[in-house]
Amino acid sequence: MKAKKDLMKVEPYRGELSRRELARRLGLKEEEILPLHANENLFIEKEWVKERIKEALEKIDPRMYPDPQNVEVRRALAQYYGVDEEEVVMGSGADELIDGISRCFIESGEQIVTLDPTFQVYGISAMLHGGRCKSVLLKEDFSIDVARLLSELDETVKVLYICSPNNPTGNQHEKGVVEEVIGKANCIVVLDEAYVEFADYSLSKLIHEYDNLIVLRTFSKGFGIAGLRFGVALSNQEIADIMRRGLQPYNVSNIAQYTALTLLEHWSYLAEKINEIKRQREALLKELSEIEGLKAYPSKANFILVRIVKRGVRAEDVQKKLMMKGILVRDRSGLPLLDNCLRITVCPNHMTERLTSALKEALGD
Ligand SMILES: Cc1ncc(COP(=O)(O)O)c(C=O)c1O
Repeated sequence: MKAKKDLMKVEPYRGELSRRELARRLGLKEEEILPLHANENLFIEKEWVKERIKEALEKIDPRMYPDPQNVEVRRALAQYYGVDEEEVVMGSGADELIDGISRCFIESGEQIVTLDPTFQVYGISAMLHGGRCKSVLLKEDFSIDVARLLSELDETVKVLYICSPNNPTGNQHEKGVVEEVIGKANCIVVLDEAYVEFADYSLSKLIHEYDNLIVLRTFSKGFGIAGLRFGVALSNQEIADIMRRGLQPYNVSNIAQYTALTLLEHWSYLAEKINEIKRQREALLKELSEIEGLKAYPSKANFILVRIVKRGVRAEDVQKKLMMKGILVRDRSGLPLLDNCLRITVCPNHMTERLTSALKEALGD
């Protein structure tokens, strides 16, 4: 069987075992597995979200196709993001919108630029649509090397991705730097703010000042519905119209749309949970920093990057040892600048003790 040539160049996504499968193998209950590998929201109560889905269910008729231009939902989103409803495009997760950007803007052979280490879907998606990916390294402190980046943004570059807060390093890029890059770039700039609910500031409203800017937001992190798949692209109307043209006609399910709407109506509960995550992140950072052989990096997201600095101990082995104890974390060692690094989702206090003692044991403390 002959697949597309560009597809065969893409490394298969090496996800960890699923929570359910790991539980089965270890003879544990699914709830006993700590899923700290995918940056989901572990603070919002499952039953609370299910209640919101029930509310949403009352508003839909599942026999009907969803309305991708749903004015009611887009109006609520526009209000939350402080933009106009015409500037809002919904997607089945931010992932689908990244794919949509490739579909809409990248001709075969055209380049995108990513600031590495970063979210890998940007490059994969561009490649699958015939594009090429040029990687510009972040500095050692994970900030943007502006001069180097600008020198790489020649006329062959169609799209530049800036992830802020950046996955997997966790830092938020400085406002002034991001604005300088958007202003000087002669291409579309996609600012991925998937984790911005946990950060200090959002630059979403800059879509009103720069006509080359697309901001991505998601309901998988702050809003806690990763399983329903709901993401948003914000941009000026011209770009939004192009995106709407290129996406699948019924790309977002009606249950995802109305659950998103219902969640916006319950924003105060979510805001409380987000504050709890931020507090817990700082507490976890302190605990991880105190573990010998571990360097923990400050974060503005709902995860923390750690580097194993103990001689002879490999992140890959630590990850496996944690997995055998029912704790899933992500090994990011394969990415540039991230030798021996793991990424760990911030979890509620009652899970922290299990995580830190398993880490200490794995590090041979
Ligand atoms: C930086 C970043 N952007 C986008 C996404 C995709 O989000 P979604 O679940 O909305 O597809 C993720 C998911 O982890 C992410 O880390």
